[in-house]
Amino acid sequence: MKIAIVGTGYVGLPTGVGLAEFGNDVVCVDKIAAKIEALKNGQLTIYEDGLEELFQKVVKAGKLHFTTSMKEAVSGADVVMLAVGTPPHPVTKEADLQYIYAAAQEVAQYLDGYTVIATKSTVPVGTGDEVEAIIKRTNPSADYDVISLPEFLREGFAVHDFFAPDRIVIGANSERARKVMLELYKPFEGKTKFLLVGRKSSETIKYASNAFLAMKIHYINEMADFCEAAGANISEVACGMGLDSRIGNKFLNPGPGYGGSCFPKDTNAMAQMAKKFGVHLHLIETTIAYNDERKVGMAKRVLSAVNDNPDAKIAVLGLAFKGGTDDCRESPAMDILRELIKCSHNVCVYDPKAMNNAHQLVGDSVSYAADAYEAAKGADILVILTEWEEFRHLDLPKLKEIMKKPQVVDLRNMLCADEMCKNGFDYCCIGLKH
Ligand code: UDX
Repeated sequence: MKIAIVGTGYVGLPTGVGLAEFGNDVVCVDKIAAKIEALKNGQLTIYEDGLEELFQKVVKAGKLHFTTSMKEAVSGADVVMLAVGTPPHPVTKEADLQYIYAAAQEVAQYLDGYTVIATKSTVPVGTGDEVEAIIKRTNPSADYDVISLPEFLREGFAVHDFFAPDRIVIGANSERARKVMLELYKPFEGKTKFLLVGRKSSETIKYASNAFLAMKIHYINEMADFCEAAGANISEVACGMGLDSRIGNKFLNPGPGYGGSCFPKDTNAMAQMAKKFGVHLHLIETTIAYNDERKVGMAKRVLSAVNDNPDAKIAVLGLAFKGGTDDCRESPAMDILRELIKCSHNVCVYDPKAMNNAHQLVGDSVSYAADAYEAAKGADILVILTEWEEFRHLDLPKLKEIMKKPQVVDLRNMLCADEMCKNGFDYCCIGLKH
């Protein structure tokens, strides 16, 4: 089938590569010419594990093309996926739909034959109705259906999640559109669950799922606070909880708060959307408030460990919003780093992939190290802010030797408290009484 994907970000690009791998003819379109230029020159514009080789393969096979021309992408397409950003409004925090609506209006002009328009971006409930109205106004004679096709990719695992989704949700109010989508996703038949629901239910499933996951993280973070006060061990508590199949053992890792381009955005958008319908989502509103508060509290924990001494060297490991990605959007690590910079002029940072993105946010207010040990050299404290696997295997004797003070604050519980003690470190982690 011929597929057009509007938007070449963390959702659009992996989706385009994946669908091309299944033999579809995919055209990705983006209005940012520089992005398209880079992609045309074989340069990926995002980091995603496993994406590089697949991207090169499908481009070489002539199954994936890039353009800035909506006409070239949409004309003759069986399915057009809208995968553009829906950023939070800076004040109201509602999802800003200007890019979705602009894309719908532009797509409408080039529809030439029955086309399924699928909103892949996370959009408030009812957006499909508005997209439908825009297309109807722009091109009254067009033959199309608008469906909701929510994405559940996790950044850092986009390729894995594309080929091994827990479910494929298709929110369509027309049999014709369902048929086209089941044809497109045939390669997943027998490998995953298909859920065919109404469009508004599908739009709701995405927000409800993300908000629930954010709430689950909020819950385990609060349990970590309880464990620190009561003398319990959050790792043991999380393990005990997770053995209950009704709870499940995923998303029970305590940390400095959740971040990323989705959870903060989607929890806020869900709360705002609910208010518009006159519904008060107390749990989600509490999750939002606590998550912001937690990051400030975590920074205070680090600063008090160096007695708020502005000259103390603070080594920070991890800048991305989570391990496995270069993305710093709404990163708890960056929020905490900004709090540290307010009080210390001697912060040295390292992240395996996110250094460039972090530099765009905090510039030269910190120094940048080539690796964890360069950051730790002469440091009064080492802080772990992002769950990169390599931080689990730090050479402790080497760290102890090069640090000014063997003090570690591990906000991702990457290291083992007993090991740290044995190696003579003053070690503080989450969810364990200090
Ligand atoms: C999320 C959803 O998981 C995905 O299904 C949706 O499509 C997009 O939003 P993503 O934002 O990429 O994916 O990252 P995710 O792995 O969910 O982590 C989000 C944040 O929660 C990160 O800051 C991560 O560090 C944090 N987190 C995650 C925890 O603090 N503890 C956990 O146990 C899991």
